[in-house]
Amino acid sequence: MTKAKELKKIAEEIEACKECKMGTTGKAVPGEGNPQAKIVFVGEAPGRQEAATGRPFIGRSGQLLRQAIRSLGISEEDVFITSVGKYIPLQGTPSAFQITHGRTHLMKQLAIIQPKIVVLLGSIAIQGVLGEKLPIKSLHGTIRQKEGTHYFLTLHPAAGLRFPPLKQLFLGDLSGPLSQLLRNS
Ligand code: URA
Repeated sequence: MTKAKELKKIAEEIEACKECKMGTTGKAVPGEGNPQAKIVFVGEAPGRQEAATGRPFIGRSGQLLRQAIRSLGISEEDVFITSVGKYIPLQGTPSAFQITHGRTHLMKQLAIIQPKIVVLLGSIAIQGVLGEKLPIKSLHGTIRQKEGTHYFLTLHPAAGLRFPPLKQLFLGDLSGPLSQLLRNS
């Protein structure tokens, strides 16, 4: 089976998943992009616009993320974009259960794509993928290496929209250390 077909199968599993739907609403947002991507961006959970359309990162924070991706000199079609939570959580942010459960789908997607770099956008993405609660304020812009994959820790773009100084940190992480990592991978 091709990577595209395998990813489609996971997306169908997410759409049919009863556990995913608990405490959430709206359409499933499995993720989208290039099945051969060298770099994957992982967020927290869909927002209102994503839940209405089924597409990841298309709201305000998505515009910021997608613009920052293009500034790296890569096209949005070259990357894969997804989140730990696959549905919008009713309480705004994913619960511990939603993080652990969303992880099971996300890890299957990452195992299919096998990217060189996984960009973790904010603390929920870090917790969901690395299984650890890490202080993002001090660790943003740093890389963890695990089994041949580079995990790049940065802020969630929504934090940058709420607090302009964090937007500068987010953009600086991508144009600085992430851009360098991309060149070297
Ligand atoms: N924020 C996320 O973490 N994911 C999305 O898809 C949209 C906003």
